[in-house]
Amino acid sequence: MSRQRVILDTDPGVDDAAAIFMALGAPEIDLLGITVVAGNVPLGAGLENACRLVALAGRRDVPVLAGVERPLLRDQVYGRYAAIGAFSERLVGADSVTPASEHAVSFIVRQARAAARAGRPLTLCAIGPLSNIAMALRLHPEVAEGIARVVCMGGAFTALGHRTPWAEFNIYADPHAAQIVFGAGVPLVLFPLDVTMQALFTPADVVRIGATGGAPGRALAALMDEHDRSDMARYGRPGGPLHDPMTIAWLLEPGLFAGRPATVGVQVGGATSGHTFADFNDDSPRATVMTDVDEPGYIALVTDRIAALEEETQ
Ligand code: BDR
Ligand code: CA
Repeated sequence: MSRQRVILDTDPGVDDAAAIFMALGAPEIDLLGITVVAGNVPLGAGLENACRLVALAGRRDVPVLAGVERPLLRDQVYGRYAAIGAFSERLVGADSVTPASEHAVSFIVRQARAAARAGRPLTLCAIGPLSNIAMALRLHPEVAEGIARVVCMGGAFTALGHRTPWAEFNIYADPHAAQIVFGAGVPLVLFPLDVTMQALFTPADVVRIGATGGAPGRALAALMDEHDRSDMARYGRPGGPLHDPMTIAWLLEPGLFAGRPATVGVQVGGATSGHTFADFNDDSPRATVMTDVDEPGYIALVTDRIAALEEETQ
């Protein structure tokens, strides 16, 4: 089986950390680089978090690159938990890697061009605001030929948003970037809140992640514990979601998910900026919107893959 060539574009972030660990630990994935964008936290804090997660996982071979510092047009907003900033040393340790000097956007462009030349388009996994990817596609539209798909955590269709009642954070934080990516002609696989909020990690799941023995699992469990996402009023049962790892889980085990073809759009101005909408009856759908997940299967996959990474790095 040939390994999937992936660039992970991220704004770490607690659930970004889980996705990064899963991608770093997956033998099926050839992780070309981790590109960082401002989002949950300011760019500098996100970059530092990414560098320390990579060091903790013992994968110093994977480059980490700084990208776009602010949204394309709108005022900057950070995540609801922006105060997390750089992860505390107590939770993830102080060891770090040095970020690469190349800009994340030029890295994406260079890798996508090389992929197009080689006839082996790569996968972009986008788990933060889409500013880096939009910049790459807007500056050099031909790089679309080197991108097999953008697998994106973002949007909300039937679920209410969480950053605002009408919008999911990654799209809300840079709706113009989302509009560019949605319209770029690149196949899009979208994981909106509708599906990510179907899988809730309970306190017992968090204990299991932390008990697997190695440093990444312990750090992730500590982060999940410290930044608890549970919300009984919203979910009606204990536990909280890990949104971002669904993109990596889909690459590894697509059978855990069901989706529907659609053409998607985003509101870029006015009072409901960042609101996503989908036409499920379009004759030429350009996206797959994920609608359902096998909750126990997903939670087991996340837990097992983080445990496997630990065995490799112990
Ligand atoms: C998304 O926003 C951030 O809170 C998370 O990192 C995730 O990417 C969920 O809406
Ligand atoms: Ca994220």
